[in-house]
Amino acid sequence: MHAIDNSAAGPAALPAQAEPAAATGATPASRATPQPQAAPAGAETRVPDLNLAERLAYAQKLAQAEQQLLQSEKMASIGQLAAGVAHEINNPIGFINSNLNTLRDYVGDLLRLIDAHERGPAEARAVAEEIDLPYLREDLGNMIEESLDGIARVRRIVQDLKDFSHVDHGEWLWTDLHKNLDSTLNIVNNEVKYIADVKRNFLAGLPPVYCNASQINQVFMNMLVNAAHAIRARVQQGDYTRGLITVTTAVEGEDVVVSIADTGCGIAPEHVARIFDPFFTTKPVGQGTGLGLSLSYSIVRKHGGCITVRSTPGQGSCFNLCLPIKGGADTKAS
Ligand SMILES: Nc1ncnc2c1ncn2[C@@H]1O[C@H](COP(=O)(O)OP(=O)(O)OP(=O)(O)O)[C@@H](O)[C@H]1O
Ligand SMILES: [Mg+2]
Repeated sequence: MHAIDNSAAGPAALPAQAEPAAATGATPASRATPQPQAAPAGAETRVPDLNLAERLAYAQKLAQAEQQLLQSEKMASIGQLAAGVAHEINNPIGFINSNLNTLRDYVGDLLRLIDAHERGPAEARAVAEEIDLPYLREDLGNMIEESLDGIARVRRIVQDLKDFSHVDHGEWLWTDLHKNLDSTLNIVNNEVKYIADVKRNFLAGLPPVYCNASQINQVFMNMLVNAAHAIRARVQQGDYTRGLITVTTAVEGEDVVVSIADTGCGIAPEHVARIFDPFFTTKPVGQGTGLGLSLSYSIVRKHGGCITVRSTPGQGSCFNLCLPIKGGADTKAS
């Protein structure tokens, strides 16, 4: 199953495949993380003896640390996107403000016309001519329509933000993934709209999936932002002016599969096996933490699912996200 329209970037053209055995257990491959020193030959490695209670305490601490990491990555990505969302809101607010100023002048003109009517028909005609009544009549309607449209846009953005963060309920629910993909696509719109078109190949009648929707949104967001960044790299190289992100949904057996394919820069074969490692990034310092895919992978694992990727450098990548419709085996524990 593949979603890229361009046949050059179709399945045959995307040979490099990776599915990490276990992202959480992978060796960190980071810019900043020092590689562990190999023990000198013959050196004794001491593994502390831990009783069951201590092991459980460690496991609990590890789970807490992972939860905190998840939360802070979410906050960081929301922070990164906040500027974009602010821009999206600022635009309609700007023209609503300007329309209200003009409407204030128009209302003043109309009140003047009513006063003139009281003084007589000749004065009324003069004022009507002065204020260009036919134009005012038409413009007034347009401006009200435009402002209502702007307010609807702001309301939609606020609703998308609410849906995205699931402020009302952060727990496991039967979820319409199309709705989540739509709200996440709207949230990342500012990262995408100048450089790429988005094509939705949504399967009609996709069944709801039992999942932690807020965490799954985080996965969608990271993949969509990664796709946008990969396309931006090609735009900056001058390969083209706009790329394509194709989001496809399908049912395969007991699973729902969401594919996010891009026509971006692709992943170098020597990097494919490392992209799910914590802190692995090819982005410049300050632009990527290298945590997005590793956290996405552990979220998807918690749901009993998997992520696979196929990529061809210079042509694009396709990430397949597989989620069991009924939720993962450890669903109740999360
Ligand atoms: N769609 C993609 N196309 C090309 N390369 C990708 C794509 N998705 C991920 N990568 C590669 O995988 C690396 C790791 O991705 P990951 O999302 O984990 O971290 P990041 O995007 O670098 O930083 P962040 O933590 O901010 O998400 C990226 O730096 C990039 O090299
Ligand atoms: Mg990322």
